[in-house]
Amino acid sequence: MRHFLNLIDLTADEVRHLLAEAARLKEARRRGIPTNALAGKVVALIFEKPSLRTRVSFEAGVAQLGGTSLFLPGNEIGLGWRETLADFSRTMSRFVDAMVFRVFKHSTLDGIAAHATVPIINGLSDWSHPCQALADVLTIQEHLGTVAAKTVAFIGDGNNVARSLAVAVGRLGGRTVLACPKGYAFDEPFKKDFAARVSPDALTEVHDPLAAVANADVIYTDVWTSMGQEAEREERLRRFEGFQVNGKLLAAAPKHCKVLHCLPAHRGEEITDEVVDGPQSVVFDEAENRLHAQKALLEWLLK
Ligand code: CP
Ligand code: NVA
Repeated sequence: MRHFLNLIDLTADEVRHLLAEAARLKEARRRGIPTNALAGKVVALIFEKPSLRTRVSFEAGVAQLGGTSLFLPGNEIGLGWRETLADFSRTMSRFVDAMVFRVFKHSTLDGIAAHATVPIINGLSDWSHPCQALADVLTIQEHLGTVAAKTVAFIGDGNNVARSLAVAVGRLGGRTVLACPKGYAFDEPFKKDFAARVSPDALTEVHDPLAAVANADVIYTDVWTSMGQEAEREERLRRFEGFQVNGKLLAAAPKHCKVLHCLPAHRGEEITDEVVDGPQSVVFDEAENRLHAQKALLEWLLK
């Protein structure tokens, strides 16, 4: 039995397998070929924070695979305060076949996974967003043919999405350049772990967005203020000034460069309308790929 808490725990072959399976499931859906790998299975979705893409793509994906999903808001079931995480996890493991969590603190996931006897999937924590990263590399592969030897410029905060993306890209032989204001780079423990377990030279940090995009194949951005950081919003708006992905930045990148964003976007802050809605944007292909990537993940974890 495996959990899916951080992408760094998967080998390159495992990531490639998931991407191949996601592509197969995407094509099967396009051709109307039914799949029932999750027949009789129940997947619980337990969310402490808002979600559109993660919730709906998991619910739709489970249904398309012939299974059933239960959506449980964290506060209604008392996650973390009505009983211990261990008791919660052991009880839930008796009822369902897998659990997807969206949590404030990554340690909540670790606490649950330690006692679960069914697979636990990270549907976003403050540390990582591995489901998003799977969809991201699937999208890059579709549009650029491969991730290997490609350069992804992440413009913005060294956050959960950026960490998982850098790991996924690095696993597949690409490199990431993070362009961020001082104080918003990746933390040292992450960089050490990345160097040891992914690659010693597939991650660099700069503070100049124009320099970051000069050789980029992909420009990626995410919100400057993540869920749970709302109190820092004003300060972050000031600090991230100059890190917007706009027409001027895109003009400094190679012509073939694609633009990704995990969404939801704060249009007019980290990215402009002209870029999100422009010809180089693949953000809705990326959103769709959440569905296919997670179906592959569920099949893999529940096989
Ligand atoms: N990208 C993403 O995880 O979207 P949601 O927050 O809407 O799930
Ligand atoms: N970094 C964002 C991603 C949302 C999908 C957040 O954690 O709120």
